[in-house]
Amino acid sequence: MRGAPPARIVDDIEALKREAGIAACSFVRSGMKLGLGTGSTVRYTVLEIGRRVAEEGLDVTGVPTSEATRELSESLGIPLLTLNEAGELDLTIDGADEFDPNFDLIKGGGGALTREKRVAEASRAMVVVADDRKQVGVLGAFDLPMEVVASDWEDVRDHMARICPGEVRLRGGRAPYLTDDGGYILDCEFGPTISDPESLQSQIRSVAGVVDVGLFVSICDAVVMSSSSSVRTLLKDNGRLS
Ligand code: 5RP
Repeated sequence: MRGAPPARIVDDIEALKREAGIAACSFVRSGMKLGLGTGSTVRYTVLEIGRRVAEEGLDVTGVPTSEATRELSESLGIPLLTLNEAGELDLTIDGADEFDPNFDLIKGGGGALTREKRVAEASRAMVVVADDRKQVGVLGAFDLPMEVVASDWEDVRDHMARICPGEVRLRGGRAPYLTDDGGYILDCEFGPTISDPESLQSQIRSVAGVVDVGLFVSICDAVVMSSSSSVRTLLKDNGRLS
């Protein structure tokens, strides 16, 4: 008896990350200057770009958003520039911890939010790679990370405690996590309450000692999202890629 082909089921999270990471490479063309994100999903994008450079002669230059991505990219032979050398970038591909229906993001789960935001803001477009666990109605179930000047972390924590409805934690506790630029990370438990990320971003950025916050507002143009049944590219209406 003939019927519909079996539904595609991918349950393995690592396989979902790989699928999204590789599928996003369809946006990459020779000649591009690329922002290379940080994290376990976009790692597959970087690996695929490295493969295409080595095997297909893809001619791109990358600007890494972290030391980890710089080391990986170098090991793959992807030519690299600093952001200062590169100037404007054609495209940044990066992961996210959450994305909402407006394509606004929480990032910084990997601690690289400040460099990630600078690189994304210098790009003509941004594509996020994610599995469907990252898709939310309202941002904030994932604790909102922010980078702070290390010597100011207690003042910033006390200030944030007045803004944030839940706990504000120093990442790493007694052995604080250090960013690539020597900052600390505070993780702020807002819960799914961040319905106006732009005003929260302004509020947090105005606190002395804050380097930046992991809210990416009006920066992301598309999400390549994998799920157990498909890999889809979601394009933002009136975004720079639609
Ligand atoms: C790093 C990030 C990452 O992009 C984010 O945490 C998603 O990572 P992963 O793909 O490993 O879930 O913002 O600062």
